[in-house]
Amino acid sequence: MSTHLHHLISLAELDATTIGRLLDRAERMREASLHGTRRLDLLAGRTVLNLFFEPSTRTRTSFELAARRLGAIVVNFDLARSSTNKGETLLDTLHTLEAMHLDAIVVRHRETGTPAFMVRHAMSGVSIINAGDGNHAHPTQGLLDALTIRQHHPDFTKLRVAICGDIRHSRVARSDIHALCTMGVRELRLCGPASLLPETSEVPGCQVLEDFDAAIEGVDAVIMLRLQKERMAATLLPDEASYFQQYGLTPERLARAAPGCLVMHPGPINRGIEIDPAVADGAQSRILEQVGNGVFVRMAVLAEALGR
Ligand code: NCD
Repeated sequence: MSTHLHHLISLAELDATTIGRLLDRAERMREASLHGTRRLDLLAGRTVLNLFFEPSTRTRTSFELAARRLGAIVVNFDLARSSTNKGETLLDTLHTLEAMHLDAIVVRHRETGTPAFMVRHAMSGVSIINAGDGNHAHPTQGLLDALTIRQHHPDFTKLRVAICGDIRHSRVARSDIHALCTMGVRELRLCGPASLLPETSEVPGCQVLEDFDAAIEGVDAVIMLRLQKERMAATLLPDEASYFQQYGLTPERLARAAPGCLVMHPGPINRGIEIDPAVADGAQSRILEQVGNGVFVRMAVLAEALGR
């Protein structure tokens, strides 16, 4: 069974066929874009609004590029100058924007559940695409990470993957877990200090470990995460030097993984805290490939949600 997307809130709702179809479509977008940035006209006349209530470099820019490369008109909501600062509620903002006949709203918000709330309250047929809500979900990041892995290892069922760092506060980790488990990855290990790990009941099918040296042993891909201080009580915050000692990805640690292990990170990276610059910039780093794939995955998602 496969589901047609109109909204994209989390990967939990998508089966392997649907995820596979989106990844295939992203590959086709990549091929179509390879020779320059030729504009396709799939979304000509459509309007996409970027509504980001939290900072973003990669996600916002790549959604904008994706929509423009498909011929859509893109509006970037300027939060700092909006009436949100005059006390307008999210619901009134949503209905005001809808009255301008948008086709899609790409939303990022610090509160878990905001995109789903917008789906429930939208009055027009606008598509809501989640670009990250609280620690809940970042579905296009989950897709682009799966795509990056698949480009190197086509068969997920043979793979061992480790996700390391601040998993508790990470929407990227949650979406990666959904993507990788749905695609049937052989082993998924989650690693970090106890205070930054999820409840084991929250992550069925994953191994949860505190020892990074054990977690990285033999893996084919390692996904590193930033300490998300903005979502953390000050008491949870580890000392950065000792954190790097225990959980930093150094060349020595990477040598424990399988040969050619993919080094991944959703960005922004904090050099010397969760990753050694020699690894971030090293031959096994796929971090910039992830960024490039972000555009193609977002093209695929927008085309699927808005394509006629
Ligand atoms: C992440 C996010 O905002 O969830 N970044 C991203 O979108 N690539 C991860 C983070 O902020 O650490």
